[in-house]
Amino acid sequence: MPGLLSKPAPPSEDKRWRIVEATMRRNGYAPHALIETLHSIQETFGYLDEASMRYTAASLRVPLSKVYGVATFYHFFALKPQGKHVCVVCMGTSCYIKGAGTLLETVEKEYGIRAGETTPDGEISLLKARCIGSCGLAPACVLDGVVAPKVTPENLLERLKELTGQPAAAQKNGASKP
Ligand code: FES
Repeated sequence: MPGLLSKPAPPSEDKRWRIVEATMRRNGYAPHALIETLHSIQETFGYLDEASMRYTAASLRVPLSKVYGVATFYHFFALKPQGKHVCVVCMGTSCYIKGAGTLLETVEKEYGIRAGETTPDGEISLLKARCIGSCGLAPACVLDGVVAPKVTPENLLERLKELTGQPAAAQKNGASKP
């Protein structure tokens, strides 16, 4: 009985969504169409933003965290800002209550960037999302496509430093001089 299920509305009136819609329809709105759908959005709009990922998640009935995972794991997908590493801080209600605001502030301060920006050296792009569908793991982040559960400011900075290959601030070497 196709056609009776209500489908989510595209993020805007833009006719280009019909192209994306056609890709999903061709695949029967099956979850396995995820990558192909994201490709279609990227080709059509040039990048994937939060609205397009929410739309994809709802249309294909896959968790938003999975869409973020795929979108941030593959380098050919652009989320507007394009740093080498991507840190998405979930600012949805559950995560917010559990301190997501502090997580975001911590990264902003440490790297001198705001959400939506990339560090001048191109290492880290910082993004925020509304809810990535992993509320049980709040506060959650997605780091290079991997969901990080129950994040604290300290371990978030540790992980970012690991990703960028920089030593954690806590591990300063006492350089021995001759
Ligand atoms: S509010 Fe963060 S995963 Fe749902």
